[in-house]
Amino acid sequence: MAFQAVRGTRDIFAPLSNSFTQLENVARKKAELWDFDEVRLPTFEEAGLFTRSVGETTDIVEKEMYVFNDRKGRSLALRPEGTASMVRAYVEHSFSQKEKKSKFFYIANMFRAERPQAGRYREFEQIGFEIFGDPTPYAEIDLLSLAFTIFKDFGVEKTELHVNSLGCAVCRPAYRQELMVALQKIKDTLCADCQKRLERNPFRVLDCKNCSPKIKDTVPVFKKCADCAAHEKSLLNALTASNIPHTVNRNIVRGFDYYTKTVFEFLHSGLGAQSAICSGGRYDNLVESLGGTATPAVGLAFGVDRTIEARLAEGVAQVKSASDARKPGVFLALQSQEDSIGAFAMQTATRLRQQNIAVTYSVLQDSMKSQMRQANKSNTKYCLIIGAEECQKQKFKLKDLTGDWEGELGWEELVQKVKI
Ligand code: HAM
Repeated sequence: MAFQAVRGTRDIFAPLSNSFTQLENVARKKAELWDFDEVRLPTFEEAGLFTRSVGETTDIVEKEMYVFNDRKGRSLALRPEGTASMVRAYVEHSFSQKEKKSKFFYIANMFRAERPQAGRYREFEQIGFEIFGDPTPYAEIDLLSLAFTIFKDFGVEKTELHVNSLGCAVCRPAYRQELMVALQKIKDTLCADCQKRLERNPFRVLDCKNCSPKIKDTVPVFKKCADCAAHEKSLLNALTASNIPHTVNRNIVRGFDYYTKTVFEFLHSGLGAQSAICSGGRYDNLVESLGGTATPAVGLAFGVDRTIEARLAEGVAQVKSASDARKPGVFLALQSQEDSIGAFAMQTATRLRQQNIAVTYSVLQDSMKSQMRQANKSNTKYCLIIGAEECQKQKFKLKDLTGDWEGELGWEELVQKVKI
């Protein structure tokens, strides 16, 4: 084989590709109900955008970005996530000044050079929702209720919402210091990665799968400032009042520097190590730090690949068709490969499709017997047999593949019959 897909990327065929479309359709429908506008953002940006917003010492920026120089020597990066681009666009188009729009969503592929494993790819899809301008926990509630509805409509049931608060620029630095001092004392018991992380980003030790169980008794309690404490309290109350099941999990720290106050992850028990299927949080300082007017913001992103894997883990079968609009359809079987019969068949296929009826046929020049075998295996209800006689008489020989009825019909009768 001359070429293979690059490690960590994949070719997605039906029926799996139908699940992608299905989830995108559910998200688009809900986005309308929740009043989010779709935005299409560039696939690559100046690398500095991500360094500045995601954070210089994060794994994404240090190890996982696909960075390259263009022909003019500018340092560009394939987007590893959507929030930084969204905020860049929000500031660039002065949305905060015009107050034109404050709710956006995107469906886009992201790129991270992580070590590939089940549920972790180097190119993967996200559906992201971002709300600008609302400092209250109601923005979080709006987003989280949207996420629950999308999971429900798509058919993922066993999700668990874990929430935490990471504080803000007022209270986080002191806690960071306190945490670092506490962890320094048990440095030798930490894994090699966490020993390195300790000084640069001690919060990451909290969500390390190896170390978090060992450090439970060492980690000091985070005493947040009054503003952050009040925000968290009213968020938790509002979650309970809105019947949104949740668990407070102090180990959720997320791998981005832009978060302030609320962070959350939807976890799914059927997925092994990569169990976060949707995650996000509040980022009240990012608009300003990218040059905009200070604007609070909060958002989340679904990992599309993982959400589909979660549904499969729950035993939900994949669908043959991504849209509900498709009718059972017709398999065209050609009795001979003569030009006039082929032309009549193509014309018939076009007319049927104009009536919203799905048409399929064998692309190989197969025998009648082989075509009938394929028709029986396909998910079509009817087989339309086209030969010289049908072509001449402009009649249609139809066979019901699910029963034993067959007959010859005119055009109107044919459409009536197969549309039901
Ligand atoms: P994130 O947690 O890095 O957050 O990604 C969101 C979701 O994308 C994850 O929950 C996961 O399901 C999926 N995901 C992440 N990495 C991979 C991967 N390598 N392979 C497959 N799926 C993956 C963000 O990207 C933030 N921008 C979310 C956000 C939006 N925060 C505020 N607004």
